[in-house]
Amino acid sequence: MTSRISGFYKLAPSERLIAVAEQAALGPEEIAQVQTGLLLDQADKMTENVIGLFQVPLGIATNFVIDGREVLIPMATEEPSVIAAASNGARMARETGGFFTSSTGPVMRALIQATGIGDPFAARQAILLHKDDLMRMANDKDPMLVKYGGGVKDIEVYVIDSKMGPMVVTHLIVDCRDAMGANAVNTMAESLAPRIEQITGGRVYLRIISNLADLRLVRSKAVFKAEEIGGHEVVDGILLAAELAEVDPYRAATHNKGIMNGVTAVVLATGNDTRAVEAGAHAFASIAGRYKSLTRYEKNRDGDLVGTIEMPVAVGLVGGATRVHPVAKTAVKILGVKSADELSRIIASVGLCQNFAALRALASEGIQRGHMSLHAKNVAVQAGAKCDLIEIIAARMAAERRISVDRAVELMAELDEKAKEIT
Ligand code: MEV
Repeated sequence: MTSRISGFYKLAPSERLIAVAEQAALGPEEIAQVQTGLLLDQADKMTENVIGLFQVPLGIATNFVIDGREVLIPMATEEPSVIAAASNGARMARETGGFFTSSTGPVMRALIQATGIGDPFAARQAILLHKDDLMRMANDKDPMLVKYGGGVKDIEVYVIDSKMGPMVVTHLIVDCRDAMGANAVNTMAESLAPRIEQITGGRVYLRIISNLADLRLVRSKAVFKAEEIGGHEVVDGILLAAELAEVDPYRAATHNKGIMNGVTAVVLATGNDTRAVEAGAHAFASIAGRYKSLTRYEKNRDGDLVGTIEMPVAVGLVGGATRVHPVAKTAVKILGVKSADELSRIIASVGLCQNFAALRALASEGIQRGHMSLHAKNVAVQAGAKCDLIEIIAARMAAERRISVDRAVELMAELDEKAKEIT
């Protein structure tokens, strides 16, 4: 298996699918699933008031090596240049072995908010006194999760001052194994509420997961050789760009947006909850009290660039759309992942790679040149160009740096005239 499929981008979509099918050992049914996509009656069972489908392109980022394994990355995104940039960045990381990951494991928190308590610190201690009992009660709600090594591992209790009085917030710390975990932890939190009310004498309101998944952290690291990425000046430019994201939240937001271009595309392609991962990423980026970058860059002794990322990635392989959406199922097979933890490590690596590629472009030629050629193609299609004409018109507009529907229409008329003269 290799993720380095040369000339992949030049193939037609159906040829690319065959190339991926060969690498990922997809069967005819899985190939058909990608081609057909979600069906209306499947969609009708996934959410409410369905009237149709909203399709997003699914592409494959090539060249990734993650923890020594060649991986093809399915990415669902409408944004031009994202998949090309990820593939490019991954190619540059191959020289030094690609991406190397670690994680804290698939642990989530659920919160139980108790209010109206006059002696909140005593209530906190009372809850902790009943910790074993409470953990047992919660675990009884999900024997399957416990059977697979998951379940509630700990209970923490915080007293939080608020303008509506002190709140006693109990955190259930749950190992969710291969589930994203929202259903499991919410059920557990709801089941403990009456007992928490009994213990504290307070009134429980919220019983819900926290998307600030600071116990489900994933890390990835890659070394980019200076000569591979354009030289020492580019390394220095990337370091300066990364530093700005460290000290300026206005830049950090866009820096992290670039990370999420990669992260969200894989989260979506695998049928996971994009909003949960995004909420977790941005909350974690501000955990120190100021919004910061999720990645860091340094120069090693050889003058090469070392990039690292650390972020929460709460995704699952069981439950949700991952097991229902036919394309998501095939995307998981293409990734070849066996656990949610492994999937989260791939996602963080894609985030790092996407960020590196963006910073490299920003620190050298800028991003617009890459963006423009795809944008020009879209504009040519909008103007009505078909088949080979799309490429021809797009290339002319990009070269002229005049990309508009009006210009595309003019060029089409010009080419039409020329064709008439020849015939
Ligand atoms: C565009 O979608 C993402 C970038 O703006 C990210 C960045 O600036 O780092 C290119």
